[in-house]
Amino acid sequence: MADVLNLVGFSGSLRAASYNTALLHNVERMLPPGLRLTIHSIGEIPLFNEDVEAQGNPDAVTRLHQVIRASDGVILATPEYNHGIPGVLKNTLDWMSRGRPHAFFGVPSALIGGSNGMIGTTRSQAAVRQTMATLNSPCMPYPQVLVSHVHKKIDEQGHLIDESTTKFLGAWLAEVERWMRRFPRSEREATTG
Ligand code: FNR
Repeated sequence: MADVLNLVGFSGSLRAASYNTALLHNVERMLPPGLRLTIHSIGEIPLFNEDVEAQGNPDAVTRLHQVIRASDGVILATPEYNHGIPGVLKNTLDWMSRGRPHAFFGVPSALIGGSNGMIGTTRSQAAVRQTMATLNSPCMPYPQVLVSHVHKKIDEQGHLIDESTTKFLGAWLAEVERWMRRFPRSEREATTG
């Protein structure tokens, strides 16, 4: 077994009591021994603007770009807004798509998401996958973490209180570790030159 993998996670919700951020923290508490997760906030990422970019990347953009490139993989937690990707998350992905190599090039990813509705971010995750494909980030296709009625499954302290979701996340994490190990950092650097 190779070393512990260092994963980066961020949530597409800036809300303090976000269920998606809470999901990410629950994932962090359940990690298998082979995975480490550092959670970052995207709250400081400004609106993308090529004129701003032309003046040099803002610090928050540079920092996130660096931690993604230095990681063994990324876990994204996405809410669903109006059947799509929340603007703040898409905005961050757009910033991360810039530069050579851009942040996600060859970096494996996995998605989680929860919504109040019945289909638990199915549509936003499909849209995020489309973007991750464009970024050449191998995004784990299966199993998918689509937490329906998330408001009934996470308590006020942000803890998952739904047994079947907790069990599912445990099994999902085992797959995440297998998936991330399929795309070793050493090979990625060789292909992005
Ligand atoms: C929503 N919500 C929502 N839910 C859903 O299942 N499909 C949708 O299209 C939308 N659209 C939507 C738009 C906007 C602007 C907001 C604010 C909310 C509800 C959403 O799932 C719920 O607010 C979640 O709690 C948001 O995620 P966080 O902030 O808890 O992580």
